[in-house]
Amino acid sequence: MNQADNAPVLAARRIPFEFPEDIERNWIPGEPELSAMMIGASLTMPYLEPFLMRTMREAIERVDDAQLREDGLGFIGQEGQHYRAHRRFNETIKAKGYAELAAIEAQMEASYARLSQRSLQVRLAYTAGFESMTMGVTRWLVEDRVRLFANGDPRVVSMVLWHMVEETEHKRVAYDVYQALFSGGLRGYWCRMVGVFHGSLDVMRYSMKGYKALLKKDGLWRSPR
Ligand SMILES: [Fe+2]
Ligand SMILES: [Fe+2]
Repeated sequence: MNQADNAPVLAARRIPFEFPEDIERNWIPGEPELSAMMIGASLTMPYLEPFLMRTMREAIERVDDAQLREDGLGFIGQEGQHYRAHRRFNETIKAKGYAELAAIEAQMEASYARLSQRSLQVRLAYTAGFESMTMGVTRWLVEDRVRLFANGDPRVVSMVLWHMVEETEHKRVAYDVYQALFSGGLRGYWCRMVGVFHGSLDVMRYSMKGYKALLKKDGLWRSPR
C-alpha cells in the first residue's frame, strides 16, 4: 500500500485551475445551450457551497461519531475548494459582457442569508437533499463525459469533472450526519424528504436564471433549441 492508498477519500485537493480571458462563454463549441447550462450551475456554487459548509460545520459539532465528524470536515474542505474554482471561472465569464449575472448573484446572496436563519434541521435536510440530487447529476456527467464534453475547453471540463468526482461521497456524508442528528420518527423522515425538493429545486431555479440570462444576451433564448 503506498501513500496515495492511505489518503482520505474526502481530501481537499487544491488544484490551481486557471481561467484566462481566452476561455469562451461558449466553451463547448456548437453547444451554446449546454455551455450556458453548466455556467448557470457554476454561478450558484460560490453561494450554495459556503452555505453547505456552514451547515455541515454546525452539524458535526453535535455528532458523536469521530469518523463521521472527520468525513464532515472532508466535505467542508472539498466544497471550499470547489466554490473558489467556480468563482474564478464565473468571473471570467462575467467579464465577457455578462455583467447581468451579478444581479442573480445578489439574489442568491440574499436568499442564502435568509435560509441561514432557518433551523439546523431544515438546513441540513436541504444539504442532504441537494447532495442526493448531485449524485444523480454526477453519474450523468461522469458517465456521459465523452459525449457531452469531447470538444469542450479542457480547462473547464477538467474543473467540472474534478468537482463531480469529489461529489461522489457528499450524499453519503450529508445523509449520515442528518440521520445522526434527526433520524427520529416521521418528522425526521418528512423533513428530509422535503429537503430533497427544497435543495434541488432551489439550486435548479437559480441555475436556470443564469442559463436564461446568458441565452437572452446571446439572442438564443427564443430559438427552438
Ligand atoms: Fe461541491
Ligand atoms: Fe457537495
